[in-house]
Amino acid sequence: MIKKTPQTVILLNFGCPDIQQLARAIRANHIYTMVMPWTTPLARVMQEEPVGLILCRDPRAQEHPREKEAFQKAGVPILCLEDGSLDAQAALAFCREECGCQGLWRMEAFLEEAVQEVRQQVGDKKVVLGLSGGVDSSVAAALIHRAIGKQLTCVFVNHGLLRLGEPEQVQSVFRDAFDMNLVYVDASDRFLDKLLGVTEPERKRKIIGAEFIQVFAEAAAKVDAPFLGQGSIYPDFLESIPLDGDPKGVIKSHHNVGGLPEKMDFQLVEPLARLFKDEVREVGRLLGLPPVMIDRQPFPGPSLGVRCVGEVRREYLRMLREADAIFTEELRASGWYAKTWQAFAAFLPVKSVGMHEGQRRYGYTIALRAIQTSDAVTAQVVHLPWDLLEKVACRIPQEVEGISRVVFDCTPKPPATIEWE
Ligand code: XMP
Repeated sequence: MIKKTPQTVILLNFGCPDIQQLARAIRANHIYTMVMPWTTPLARVMQEEPVGLILCRDPRAQEHPREKEAFQKAGVPILCLEDGSLDAQAALAFCREECGCQGLWRMEAFLEEAVQEVRQQVGDKKVVLGLSGGVDSSVAAALIHRAIGKQLTCVFVNHGLLRLGEPEQVQSVFRDAFDMNLVYVDASDRFLDKLLGVTEPERKRKIIGAEFIQVFAEAAAKVDAPFLGQGSIYPDFLESIPLDGDPKGVIKSHHNVGGLPEKMDFQLVEPLARLFKDEVREVGRLLGLPPVMIDRQPFPGPSLGVRCVGEVRREYLRMLREADAIFTEELRASGWYAKTWQAFAAFLPVKSVGMHEGQRRYGYTIALRAIQTSDAVTAQVVHLPWDLLEKVACRIPQEVEGISRVVFDCTPKPPATIEWE
């Protein structure tokens, strides 16, 4: 996963919560950094041939004995930063002045290297990749395709819970524009039949997740590829490394595609494993992916399944899709799409009385949500302009058959969660 890159500075993490932000700030200045937990053996650290080490610790924490070891044996310049003073300027000055970093890390060069690396790893074998249409899997697909062309087959599963136009868009970009081998599996009926009558959110998630693995595994088996391409990115790995060697310290476990059964025995191809999200977007732009695919907001795995509150029915999904598309269209037109981390519609199976073309209409409810966050652990509500909200609130009941009322969810996280379910 990790390879040698010239002029690497290593951040050794002694329990510093802001270390990812620091790494990103240094990389934004074209200096390549890697984060490693303090438990990494020094020999492993030195394998990367770093030109400097930055020790990042929590000032509440006592100096750790391993710090001394690193100091004494590394033989490269060392900077010690404490959490409260995680000063990117100081770190950058250290990299440039003491480590001699020239700031030569460029995405163009990364892309070239990554393409070569994929070719080398895969040889003349085949790769299968589960394409969700999200940023990471799309960029991984485009990169692997640049490396090995038709040896890559992407599998796109339509589980019937996608947003308006999504299946068409993914096919038009990847099959038509990029000329990729794309297997499109319309499994909508399979998923939606299984979900009928199910109202409990976690149960819905389990059904969608299990069905997804099954459908993907069936399609992947037909490709008969020894390699599985994945869009795992650097934070996926960082968050799965226990800081102190204790697995309880894991923030998020890194799994391959939705937890594919291990017996499938794929070798993984993960060309984005060294990149942060903003770097993945830059690579996507270099690869020629359209902005609409690169700049999109995060979308949950269970998709509209957790935005259709309670039971998921085809008719509810139709209303939700149309309403969400109107909201997104207005957000984009007003420039607010780029200024929100996530903004979406949720369907509420609550009926109320409304008026449509002079007639009484007893219809359902759409909730609008717009939030800003840096890590999705807490989130603030975005104060969208009232004019914009009012326009969307008028358009949805006018244009979406079956909706009579629109509400705005003004609850931060906590006490609410971002999704309704
Ligand atoms: P919550 O609702 O927990 O959401 O505040 C936090 C972030 O996670 C996304 N989310 C999910 N993503 N599978 C996913 O892949 C899920 O089951 C899931 N539930 C929530 C949500 O969209 C938000 O970005």
